Parts: sequence; structure tokens; C-alpha cells
Amino acid sequence: MLVIALSALPMSDCKAQKTTPQACEQTIITPTTGRYLWLPIQESAPEGKVLVIAGAKVLTEQNVRMARESVDYFVPLDLKPYQGKGVFKVCVQNVPAASICFSKVVQNDNVDYALKEEKFRPAYHHAPKRGWMNDPNGMFYKDGTWHLFYQYNPYGSMWGNMHWGHATSTDLVHWQQNEVALEPDAWGTMFSGSGVVDHQGDAGFGKGAIIAMYTASRPTPFGGDVQAQCLAFSTDGGQSFAKYEGNPVLTAEEKDFRDPKAFWNPEIQKWNLVLAVGQEMRFYSSSNLKDWTYESSFGSGYGCHDGVWECPDLMKLQVRGTDKQKWMLICNINPGGPFGGSATQYFIGEFDGHRFTCEHQDTRWMDYGKDHYATVTFDNAPDGRHIALAWMSNWQYANQVPTMQFRSANSVPRDLDLFDYEGQTYCGVTPSKEMASARVKGNGKLSEACEVVIDLKGTATITLSNTKGEQVVMNYDAKKKQFSMDRTKSGLTDFSDAFPVVTTAPVYGKMKQLRLFIDHCSIEAIDAEGRMAMTNLVFPNEPYSSIKVQGGKATIYNIK
Ligand code: FRU
Repeated sequence: MLVIALSALPMSDCKAQKTTPQACEQTIITPTTGRYLWLPIQESAPEGKVLVIAGAKVLTEQNVRMARESVDYFVPLDLKPYQGKGVFKVCVQNVPAASICFSKVVQNDNVDYALKEEKFRPAYHHAPKRGWMNDPNGMFYKDGTWHLFYQYNPYGSMWGNMHWGHATSTDLVHWQQNEVALEPDAWGTMFSGSGVVDHQGDAGFGKGAIIAMYTASRPTPFGGDVQAQCLAFSTDGGQSFAKYEGNPVLTAEEKDFRDPKAFWNPEIQKWNLVLAVGQEMRFYSSSNLKDWTYESSFGSGYGCHDGVWECPDLMKLQVRGTDKQKWMLICNINPGGPFGGSATQYFIGEFDGHRFTCEHQDTRWMDYGKDHYATVTFDNAPDGRHIALAWMSNWQYANQVPTMQFRSANSVPRDLDLFDYEGQTYCGVTPSKEMASARVKGNGKLSEACEVVIDLKGTATITLSNTKGEQVVMNYDAKKKQFSMDRTKSGLTDFSDAFPVVTTAPVYGKMKQLRLFIDHCSIEAIDAEGRMAMTNLVFPNEPYSSIKVQGGKATIYNIK
């Protein structure tokens, strides 16, 4: 039993909030035994504050939608860091004392407490067990393990309280969820960033240390956020991180100044950094990952500027079938995507360690679906590979999609390269070879987690449907060199006006084989030769059980 002391403490600004005086209350929970304090959440409730206080010190402070009238799901407050170190209390503020959460809160050791099976939970795409996820962060490969960090709210399935969650995989298909890697601190919450393997120990944390570079974002009392670039390091291969005591390493006056992507550039024997600042990308260089020299900016007059530029990446890639290499700058943008909201654009050109020059002015999208954002690549991938993951959602409705205990999954891993078509160079996007090794022969029937490989002879129409009459129609028009996906009748669509759409993509050349990755709430349509990619979420009331292909031959694989 928990001892709960209710104290309706009038707080100083109660006077100013006459209409909701009950919001100015504080309830103190005295923990008993068990590692986790399970906080009941109601998504429609306003955010309250949950603080852990020891003596006169605040140890942690999170915004939590504590349930007032009914409970949607539970989130764990992990008390392990505070236990065995003296008395501490959990203090809940701005939640009426009569709220249901105070009679439902539970403390125990059961990590799976109240975990429900959700029908839209993906089978083979990475998604957190509970809580909210957005951008992939800090991804790197070392000693046989792929590390994926991500923007994470452990205290609810809507955006907020940004932490870095952590998952690892040895095959890019099966992911293991690990403990949270980075928690908010006095500099702010943990926004997006990158991770590198510091082979030479340039940053001073030892050879082979992992250096994570992230944005600390802190709201100011005057409105807006202050964003600063910070470092954390790991000397145990990425299992645990310590923050660098000299943080922050880079500050600026701009309000949108974030998402550092660092990488070793052998051509100048230095580290480079790309940062998203408003509607431009800024480049820096360093020999120790701590002291950064500004080199130049890129953006004005190029690509799409209908939103804020975020989550950059920069890499040198091979142009297929040639001995040429070119640089590609990835620039995620929100809003401004081809079908509204967020999307990933890219620029092809040259980078000499100081300046990026782009060879085209038009806008190029890496994926023509509506749910492909914050795309970045793994550092230190073997065999010179550049493997990207995207967050499969869109800021237009990411907080409203009809899942509950968790929100959002990542795309399948995709290898990036370049190809020439009619005198222009484009980004090639191919499902990583690890996806093919996850295939198992099924019974030839469509299932809720499968890959469908369709050999095409020309124009084709592919229809997925279920017994409720819900359907997704895809069309490849070989003449117009266009692919489209219609999800207007795909199932649950009314949670956002921006959701029911038909997305269309140019196909650079002739598509001979289409690969469809179907999971419980997503469809990724990718040309096997990597010249077209389209990622869309779908929420059918029951799984699509039938596939009709006109103009092609389908083979269905289950995915293990
Ligand atoms: C992109 C983004 C980043 C930021 C993070 C915050 O989706 O807005 O620019 O660092 O999400 O969660």
C-alpha cells in the first residue's frame, strides 16, 4: 500500500488562475517497495508535474498527463536511481487531489505491469514498448552491434520530456530495448543529435570511446527555447553515457539551432559537424569534437523552404556503375513535405570539409510517402555502407495516431547510394540486405507482417483489402513513370484531416520489381533497384487479408 498524503496547498499563482483553482494542488506520494511507481495516464488530461524530491533537492521533474477521470495506460517512474540513498518523496503538482490517478497508482517490480497487446504494434519494425518516440538519434555500429537511440518520452505516448531511448540489434531486424541513455539536465531536455566512434580518442575519453553530440533545449520564461550543443561519452561501447562537464560546447543566438550530426572526414583529417539552424545548414570543423570552428552555411535559394530545416546528415556516396563519388546532404524539413507536414529532402554536390556546393536547385525527396522523417544514418557502418532509418510518422498527426501505450515506429533499414538518370544524380534507397535474410516462406497468403515482392512487366495495380471493405490501392504507371498509393479508405483515417491522402512519386527509369514491407500499421513500397521509395502509415480495423495484382506477379514472404 502506498501512503499518500494529500495536501491542497494553495500556490502563489492561484489568484491569477481563478477559473481553475483546483489545479494548484500538491499530492505527496511516499514510496514503499518496488522499483517502479506506475503512473496512471489519461491522454486528454492536461499535463501535471511529477517531481522526485530528496530533502530540499529536486532529483527529477517531468510533465505527466496524470489521469483525472479514467486511465488510458500506465507509465513507469523508475525509482532505482533514488532508492537506498535516503528519504525521497514523489510530489505531484497541478493535478486535482480527487483525480483517479491517486487511487490507481501502484508500486511494484513488474516491468510488464498493465502492458496490453496493441493491434497496431509492429512485428518487425523498431518501436518502444511504451511511451512516445520521434527521431532516430546517435546511431552507430561497433563490434557487431547496431546502436539506435531515439527521441523518447518515457512518461506518456505524446511528445514531451525528451530523453534518448536506446535499442540495440545484431541484425538490424530484431531490436532489444535498453535503459534510457540520456535524461534531461539543467541545460534542458535531450533533443536530437548523433553518435560517433572516436577511434583515435580525439575527444580525450579514450580510444574507441563513443561520443554522443546532442542539443539541450530549455524553455525560457520569456517564451521560446534556448538550444545548445552538448556532448556525452561512453567508455563501455554505448551501454551507458556520462555528460561532458564542459557542456555546452556550442551556443548561438538563433532559436532553432539543433540536431548536430558529427562525422570524421578523412579528407581533411578532422571532424566535421552539420547543424540545422532555421532554414540553413551550418558546417563546422574540429580536431577534438569539443572546440568547433564555423566553416560556412548552405541553404538560401536551394530546395524547399516551406518549413524549418532539421536533422541533417552529410556523407560521400558512390554513383552506381561509375567510379564517381559525390556528397549528399540530408535535410529533413517540417512542414513543407510534398503531401504536407514533414519529409526528407536531399541535396547532391561537393563538400571539401569547409563548404558544400549543390549541383541542382530543384527539390528532391528521398521518400514520397507521408510518413518518413528525421532520416539519418549509422556512423561506422562496415563495408562503407550508409544505412538510414526514418521515423515513420508526420508531425501533422504523430500525436493523434490510434495507438496508445506506444507511439511511432522506425522504417526498415535502407542502404543509400547514388544513381544517374537523364544527366542528373539522385539518391538510391534500397532495403538493407538484412531484410531479405529475415524472410521466411509462408503459406502464400497475405499476413499482417510480411514482405510482398512483385515482379512487374509494365503498368500495374496492386490492391490490399480486408473483409471490412477497407483497402489500399497502389498504382504503377510505367508510361507516366509514376507510382501512387491511396490510403483514403485504408481503415481508421479520421483522427486527422491530414491523414487520408493519395501520395505519388516519380520513378526514375523502369521499375522491374516492387518490394512491399507490410506491418501492422505501415506500408513501405520500395523499388528493388532503389529508384523510388514511399512510406505510409495505415490503420486497418482488421489486417488486410487479400492482395490483388493486375500486371505483375506477387510472392509473399513472412518476416521472422
Ligand atoms: C525533429 C525535431 C528535432 C528536434 C526533435 C525534438 O522531429 O523537431 O529538430 O531535435 O524533433 O524532439
